[in-house]
Amino acid sequence: MQTHKPKELHLADLSQLNTSVNDETWIEVIQHMDAIYSDLVHSQVELENKNAELEETRLFIESILSAMHNILVVTNTEGQILRVNLALEKLTGKTSSELQQQPLSVLFATSASSVKQSHHLAEKIRAGTLLDCEIDILSTQNKAVPMAVTSKAHYDHTGRLLGAVLTGRPLGEIRLAYLKLKEAHEKLKTTQQQLIQSEKMASLGRLIAGVAHELNNPISFVFGNMYALQRYEKRLQQYLESIHQNISVEKREQIRAELKIDSMLSDIPSLLEGSLEGAERVKTIVQELRRFATPGHDDNTPVDLIKLLNNALHWVSHSSKIKPTITTNMPDKLTITTNEGYVHQILINLAQNAMDAIENEQHPAIEVSVITDDDTVQITIRDNGTGISDEHMLSIFDPFFTTKPVGKGTGLGLYISYGLATEQCNGSLTAENHHEGGALFTLRLPNV
Ligand SMILES: Nc1ncnc2c1ncn2[C@@H]1O[C@H](COP(=O)(O)OP(=O)(O)OP(=O)(O)O)[C@@H](O)[C@H]1O
Ligand SMILES: [Mg+2]
Repeated sequence: MQTHKPKELHLADLSQLNTSVNDETWIEVIQHMDAIYSDLVHSQVELENKNAELEETRLFIESILSAMHNILVVTNTEGQILRVNLALEKLTGKTSSELQQQPLSVLFATSASSVKQSHHLAEKIRAGTLLDCEIDILSTQNKAVPMAVTSKAHYDHTGRLLGAVLTGRPLGEIRLAYLKLKEAHEKLKTTQQQLIQSEKMASLGRLIAGVAHELNNPISFVFGNMYALQRYEKRLQQYLESIHQNISVEKREQIRAELKIDSMLSDIPSLLEGSLEGAERVKTIVQELRRFATPGHDDNTPVDLIKLLNNALHWVSHSSKIKPTITTNMPDKLTITTNEGYVHQILINLAQNAMDAIENEQHPAIEVSVITDDDTVQITIRDNGTGISDEHMLSIFDPFFTTKPVGKGTGLGLYISYGLATEQCNGSLTAENHHEGGALFTLRLPNV
């Protein structure tokens, strides 16, 4: 049987054991120290970085504070100065360190209003409330400089009230800026007034030119008729004188034939009728002018469009040298509710333009058609002139655009007609060139 006998420990063994435990501990300790050291180095680097960042921020804030034109004061809750910026140092002639821990009131002049404001300010700082006020700051030369000051509470990151930040700007500057602004505003107002005035004059000019343009047609029509009547009157006088001279019937009949008394008599009613119409038109234009001064009337009445169209064509061709072939394609009667005067004016302008366009044509011709659908009445006036070039097409509805010689065209006919068609009659007016030549104008009106 085998017995277990504890192993005897010799001294050599013990020392060996001791050595091995010590080594392990040492290694452990050294390793621990290494870790701590490397942590330390890491923290050191971080700290240095933070410091550098902090320094940078400080310099940045410093440079901003120095660059500030407005004065800046930081106080604690008791209203003691903690910091000021360069602008305030310059204004008061005192350094930041001289002012530190001093009560805020050392900055202010001793005027009654300033003393009152400074008490007010101290209260506000303690309460942490915002304040805007005007206060006199004592300058280097002991002069009171009025400032517009804003005081705002400032807190630490836990929300604890630390004091206030006051910023101020010389009132003189603000007043100057205000004066400049006021001056600029006055100038702007004057310019605006001038613009309105010149715009008024321009629209007045357009209105007068427009009225003159529209009066021109009926007046020249009436003039034409009156000259004819004047000539007739002379012939009648001649005829009556010969009758009163007791001449023979044959002789009288001969004179009657020579003086074309019969055709003259048959012409007189239409001349008188035409003159009356022209005078009526002038009257309507004047009435419209009056209405223009007091707007708000609705003058839509049932109108026979065909009669109106024939009348416009009659007027225009009657006062023209050329006698074009006029072809019409329209019903005998078509009643719509519209403003008679305006539609007549548009039709006259379109017919007059067509007439002008064909005055040098060998076979001048005008084609007029009227077609209707449920909503619209469409009137087209086409001529066999040279048409409108693409370039002119863009401008023909502009005021004062004309290709006619001075004295013949004012360039207002289409501008006026367009305005009347679209704004007054709720319709439209368009222009194009017909594919077989000549211009084609289309006036659309509501079929009501
Ligand atoms: N039927 C047409 N054929 C060719 N060109 C036309 C025709 N109608 C108008 N125009 C062109 O449009 C221009 C402007 O016409 P608008 O009626 O506005 O003025 P105007 O006839 O020149 O002068 P106003 O009518 O004031 O006497 C004309 O000068 C002409 O060039
Ligand atoms: Mg015209």
